Amino acid sequence: MMRIDPFSLVYPCVSPSLLAADKGHLELEIERAEEAGASYIHFDVMDGRFVPAVSFFNDELSKPLSATRAVRDVHLMVEHPITEARRFLKMGADIVTLHVEALEKEGVAAEDLPRLLPGALLGVSLKPATPVEALRKYLPFVSLVLLMSVEPGKGGQSFLGESPARARAIRKMIGESGRRVLLSIDGGINAVTSKKALASGVDILVAGSYLFGHDDFASRLRSLLDE
Ligand code: DX5
Ligand code: ZN
Repeated sequence: MMRIDPFSLVYPCVSPSLLAADKGHLELEIERAEEAGASYIHFDVMDGRFVPAVSFFNDELSKPLSATRAVRDVHLMVEHPITEARRFLKMGADIVTLHVEALEKEGVAAEDLPRLLPGALLGVSLKPATPVEALRKYLPFVSLVLLMSVEPGKGGQSFLGESPARARAIRKMIGESGRRVLLSIDGGINAVTSKKALASGVDILVAGSYLFGHDDFASRLRSLLDE
């Protein structure tokens, strides 16, 4: 059940990605992120097929999801997005984000999403090589767009230079849709690249390796939003 309405939060904000967290102490890491002011927590699910790596694919997120007070934002880098979205919604996800490349491969039509995943808050994500125009048909049915600013599959990569222009193009498309759709960016976010993302109209900054594994987590989180 949705505990926080994402549209009632203050933007821009940060969604710490647990991929870079200490896997042995996920609940503690979540608590640390929440204490530092995170209003979202980003859970990266990888199946070893849509992307080469495997992460949080089994039921290991079930306890961490229930321990999270922030918005539970689940990024599904998986081949069978509908089946997996249902599974993670049952586990407590507040927003499930599906890749357009995976939806197209499975032949899922955008307009069928509300019937396939009724009542769920949905996001769509696109890989760096996918033209932003591929998003347009999903905008009437989703609440969030997750722009990948690195190739999905692992943390610690460098922010791709074309990402701000892609973010601006998506922001414009969202405006044309007449709907309120949040724009999130994921990959290579640090205190420098976050400024470029924010100047391009991004609402949510997903950051993993810049935040986790550092003693100054809270000041790093603030530095992403500083003017
Ligand atoms: C990459 C994941 C990201 C990842 C970001 O496939 O979707 O969420 O954790 O990591 P950093 O912030 O290290 O680029
Ligand atoms: Zn992610």
